Amino acid sequence: MSLVEIAREGDVCVLTLNREEKLNALSGEVERELGRALDDDAVRTSACVVLTGAGRAFSAGADITEFRDRTPDAVLAYYRDTGGVYERVAGLSQPTITAVHGYCLGGGLELALATDFRITDETGVFGFPEVSLGIVPSSGGTHRLVRLVGPGRAKQLMLLGGRLDANAALAAGLVNEIAADARGRALELAESLAELPQLAVSLTKQAIDLMPDASREAGIMIERLAYGMLAQSDDAKRLADEWSKG
Ligand code: COA
Repeated sequence: MSLVEIAREGDVCVLTLNREEKLNALSGEVERELGRALDDDAVRTSACVVLTGAGRAFSAGADITEFRDRTPDAVLAYYRDTGGVYERVAGLSQPTITAVHGYCLGGGLELALATDFRITDETGVFGFPEVSLGIVPSSGGTHRLVRLVGPGRAKQLMLLGGRLDANAALAAGLVNEIAADARGRALELAESLAELPQLAVSLTKQAIDLMPDASREAGIMIERLAYGMLAQSDDAKRLADEWSKG
């Protein structure tokens, strides 16, 4: 049985972490399979990707049993071999949504932060236990959390290490929405996103991701270049025609 299941529902691809007995702890093997899944045609040709977890947790974080032998060299090898997959998720050109049920801790939360949207049900529990384990969130989570919730809240979450329930996570801006059925709601949103003009969605997503690093001038140039790519696209021409005809 695969550690990351791939299912295609129309234009949407659902990736399910499937290491239920360990609360979907992100071992190197799970990360490797996630990397393989990203190369699968089911993901590559999809208009939107939904990430979720089997069983009672989205993910209880990185696999702590693999921490002990991480010398500096092993850490470098880890990022080369499997740990870079979080950046690959963040770099997907189509929109991505995490559906959370239960624990979403440490590396699990970093993975969720690498996607564009997070939907949780009422059972969602969020937090970064890394500092209490003597380490630091290091799969892009520190960087992404600061951007999402600001340094004050990021320090509160990462240094004090408390857990947030679904409502607190929503109030903190960690999640976009609470839904009774997070997976179902994520699929609904994914289908809406999949119906939009794909090139426009993709360029807008990528432009937004670049904006915090761009000067105003560079940001405006990114917008104009993206518009230059889109203005003559089949979708833009068709939609302008349809609009003109009423
Ligand atoms: N790494 C490796 N194994 C993990 C894990 C992790 N991050 N999180 C859970 N597991 C394993 C447990 O060891 C247990 O395995 P076992 O049945 O072989 O003993 C199984 O998953 C179920 O977890 P358990 O602790 O029995 O469930 P629980 O409901 O009592 O507690 C948590 C759930 C999430 C509170 C608890 O598992 C936990 O604190 N996990 C670590 C969270 C963490 O610090 N993550 C960040 C890592 S940077």
